[in-house]
Amino acid sequence: MNKHIREGDEDINWFRAASPYINAHRGKTLVVALPGSWLRSDLLPTLTHDLTLLSHLGLRLVLCFGLRAQVDDQLAIKQEHSDIVDGRRVTDSKALETIISAAGIARNDMEARLSMGLPNTPMSGARLAVTSGNYVTAQPFGVHGGVDFQHTGSVREVHSTAIEAILNAGHMVLLPPLGYSLTGEVFNVTVAEVATECAIALGADKLAFFVDSLPNDEKGAPIRQASSRRIERLLSNQGPNDDSQTELNTILKHAVKACLQNVERVHLLESDDPTALLREFYTRDGSGTMITMDRWEHLRPASITDVGGIIELIAPLQESGTLVTRSKEDLELDIEHFVVSERDGMVVACAAIYLEPESATAEFACIVTHPDYRGAGRADQLLAHLEERARELNCTTARILSTHTGHWFVARGYTQTSPQELPSVRRDSYNEQRNSKIYSKRLDVKSV
Ligand SMILES: CC(C)(COP(=O)(O)OP(=O)(O)OC[C@H]1O[C@@H](n2cnc3c(N)ncnc32)[C@H](O)[C@@H]1OP(=O)(O)O)[C@@H](O)C(=O)NCCC(=O)NCCS
Repeated sequence: MNKHIREGDEDINWFRAASPYINAHRGKTLVVALPGSWLRSDLLPTLTHDLTLLSHLGLRLVLCFGLRAQVDDQLAIKQEHSDIVDGRRVTDSKALETIISAAGIARNDMEARLSMGLPNTPMSGARLAVTSGNYVTAQPFGVHGGVDFQHTGSVREVHSTAIEAILNAGHMVLLPPLGYSLTGEVFNVTVAEVATECAIALGADKLAFFVDSLPNDEKGAPIRQASSRRIERLLSNQGPNDDSQTELNTILKHAVKACLQNVERVHLLESDDPTALLREFYTRDGSGTMITMDRWEHLRPASITDVGGIIELIAPLQESGTLVTRSKEDLELDIEHFVVSERDGMVVACAAIYLEPESATAEFACIVTHPDYRGAGRADQLLAHLEERARELNCTTARILSTHTGHWFVARGYTQTSPQELPSVRRDSYNEQRNSKIYSKRLDVKSV
């Protein structure tokens, strides 16, 4: 046995593996939406430890909590009831009173938990300052489908400057599912809406929702990573909602909205998993579903009319030997593999994707940006787009062959492999004379 392997080394290795994520997330703003059921779950102590840990690792935290379960219970005790219509409570005066009282209790409970610091606990010496306040302005949700939602509101404005100041002071911000109107009224707002609007107003880097189950794709397989555009497509292809999906769909719609309004990443985490939060942010495989902002609006699949533009773009690189030579005829035959980035009617960047289903691999080729348009993230967007496309087509690995641009791919998570590692079908067509270097990346793990 190697004398240098000791007990506890696994933990050390885990810690080392987490370091890129620790660096990547430091200083980032995370908004978390916690359903009311969580506040009375056995997992709450673990979650408060984890939130404290995230704060000490440099994340700026806003915790939004819901109260649906608490309010239902309180209303049942009083033998009262209020309807939930399309995911929103119809809040009459009695329900509002119950919500305000439950919000006070929940806030005190969270503040107490986040003040814990007993020796020999994970919270030892870890006091976290928590601030709550009137940071959400709401307006009446109104009458929908003939139903008057009364004291139910929707978010009108989030006072992001005030929240920023608190986050900058190192405090955590705690937001109840309530909003206040300019006329001094209190409104009941859903936790998903408060969290989404808050993330948008802050330009948060991340928004996390706890959900009962993760979304599945059209074939029923869990989605680990998807662009907001793919989620939008998934939602629009669904038949009439069955009830179990309504809540998840509401959250997915909020996720899409957040991504469309510049929240970089939305994470869905499973409610019954005590490790979900830390695994999602600090391990390579993550734990939940990550939905990412679509940054490639100007990209489109190439058509036969783009062949001339692509030839103009790649000709100098073919002459210099940077790219493999493709004739006009080759390009015409291959055009369906290409994606182009267009500006003022001119093809300014392109890339191609070829699938190898037997090895669940997608090979990318001909990634080019016109010299006048380089350095603006165009190739980055093309690559992200191709990776997303490959994931949708169930590829677990991306491959690229390059003679000049290896470092560019390495900086984007690719590692060099040898020609011997190519599957035999691809090895046969590998051009030994060109001696391209081969780079690959796993697509089924989350990027930092
Ligand atoms: C590589 C290439 C596609 C990048 O296009 P781009 O749209 O400018 O890319 P982005 O804006 O997303 O990235 C630019 C960054 O990549 C860096 N970069 C460019 N070429 C690089 C290379 N060969 N190695 C390492 N980094 C490189 C730039 O310095 C810039 O870095 P910065 O963001 O720190 O300033 C472009 O330079 C090109 O067309 N090269 C020739 C074709 C080629 O080699 N394609 C790859 C093989 S298929």
